[in-house]
Amino acid sequence: MCGIVGYTGSEQATPILMRGLSRLEYRGYDSAGIAVYNGSELVVKKAKGKLSELAGRIEAAPVAGCVGIGHTRWATHGEPSDINSHPHTDGDGAIAIVHNGIIENYQELKEALIARGCVFRSETDTEVVPHLIRTYYTGSMLETLIRVLPMLQGSFALAIASKDDPDTLYCTRKDSPLVLGKTDHGSLIASDIPALLEYTRDVYLLDDFDIARVRPEGISFYDCLGNEKTKEAMHVDWDVKAAEKGGYAHFMLKEIHEEPAAIHNTLAPLIEIGRANKLRFRKDAMPINEEDANAIKNIIISACGTSYHVGMVSRFIFEKLAGIPTQVEIASEFRYRDPIIQDNSLFIVISQSGETADTIAALREAKNCGVKTLAITNVVGSTVAREADYVIYTWAGPEIAVASTKAFVSQQMVAYALAADLAVKRGKMTEDELADYLHEMDQLSAKAQILVDSWEIQAHAANHFRSIRNSFYIGRHLDAISCMEAALKLKEISYVQTEAYPAGELKHGTLSLVEDGTLVCAIATQTDLIDKMISNIKEVKVRGGYVIAFVKESETRIESEVDEVWRIPECPDIFTPILVAIPGQLFGYYMALERGTDIDQPRNLAKSVTVE
Ligand code: F6R
Repeated sequence: MCGIVGYTGSEQATPILMRGLSRLEYRGYDSAGIAVYNGSELVVKKAKGKLSELAGRIEAAPVAGCVGIGHTRWATHGEPSDINSHPHTDGDGAIAIVHNGIIENYQELKEALIARGCVFRSETDTEVVPHLIRTYYTGSMLETLIRVLPMLQGSFALAIASKDDPDTLYCTRKDSPLVLGKTDHGSLIASDIPALLEYTRDVYLLDDFDIARVRPEGISFYDCLGNEKTKEAMHVDWDVKAAEKGGYAHFMLKEIHEEPAAIHNTLAPLIEIGRANKLRFRKDAMPINEEDANAIKNIIISACGTSYHVGMVSRFIFEKLAGIPTQVEIASEFRYRDPIIQDNSLFIVISQSGETADTIAALREAKNCGVKTLAITNVVGSTVAREADYVIYTWAGPEIAVASTKAFVSQQMVAYALAADLAVKRGKMTEDELADYLHEMDQLSAKAQILVDSWEIQAHAANHFRSIRNSFYIGRHLDAISCMEAALKLKEISYVQTEAYPAGELKHGTLSLVEDGTLVCAIATQTDLIDKMISNIKEVKVRGGYVIAFVKESETRIESEVDEVWRIPECPDIFTPILVAIPGQLFGYYMALERGTDIDQPRNLAKSVTVE
């Protein structure tokens, strides 16, 4: 959701900014821009459309200079256009800024600034910021920011360049991510770690309202009152290759192929071989101690999108294994319905990026109620990781494609592990049962590999179904949730209208949409519900639907009822959401490929949704 970069140093800024933006393009791709100080003025170049449009303009009229800021936009206020693209400047172009977030009180500020003579060019909320800085400018950017920041309501990450102090960039944030890094030739700002990996793996994180003064020789940090702060760099394990396509046509395909490793890498730090060769949790790997585990009266899980689907699966697991009543809340809805959070609740947020605005807000709501909070996230040092009481990381590596794939399976692994740990600590699972359970989890990586390697099945089906306009996923119990995730993958990248339905619910209305040739994917991996699924499949078949069934290897009864069968390796019912996700993702991917959509950057979407 909008990517920000900044550079000041001894090298040319434009190529560094453009490379950084290309690594952040997944955050927004409806327009892009840069502002570079050329020795006498801040030269702004911006263009509607993908980064390649901007690159073309820069190639036609290059900008030389060693300091600058850049932005890739996901529009909120004002349509994608050259004028609405960032950077935005004050009236005489002495201050340029790029922004991620939403200034909620921009209308009121804009009116006040217009009354003072400021002339606005764009329809954005962002443009108030350079005008405000100019209006209150004291000659010191640090002092000015200390005055101006309290006037802004909403969320922001800002990077600021000014003609007055041309070597120096400033940046600040509230509820939107920003990271900084140093290299031997200068200092860098970015919205996200992948943009820095080429230069450093030691990054500095800003807290809300911190201000950083970024100079070629180093970075100084200040709190909102201007007191200097010391910050330790955080070392990240990701390397630059992890943020590149590595020969794959798309990041999404690469990330699907990384799932076996992501599953393994997420589980491996949590488990070890104990006595009698039995798997168990490593000491201190699971963060909730026995006393706290036993004090939990209920669990509330809150998340968005794919991470929400992990939460939905996890509800069953926490209830089944640990016997803890669990509810799952869409984060964007949670705080607006006056939720009741009881004492002794455990509040879990699940977020790949750790920066999703709604998820952070839900976490803060829970913290205000004084309950213990736990974050499952893929990004070390992200906001949810820093704010929750406990954190368990997924080790999926950077996920760049907008459609989440390897994060889903890794988050699910953590949830399975957490449920088992709580179950053991609450006396609901024996050590032997745990060993068997962990053994099954440990097998999932190899089983995922089998599914990833059989991608041709989905590629072939996608070729056949490339022209469909709508489709359905149906399933029961855990499969009903797998349907939601598979349907989301198909919708968001191939743009095929797809509904996920609990199979038994179809006949209560939606069945009227099934006609001759309608594609209905029936996920049927829950052993006790196969007969029920067969009945629901028959309801579809007699109305002309074309049914593809996702079943386990050993399933024999469904084959004769359907048009096609996609098999997943044998595993306990509880773990099928991990395996079944893979053919669903591959089908979404190949459908999108057949239909010629922009797979890694689907229309209207952006990764890391840092606005409400
Ligand atoms: C779908 C997808 C989104 C994210 C959602 C939450 O493929 O990627 O639905 O799952 O925006 O993002 P995180 O997990 O970063 O909070």
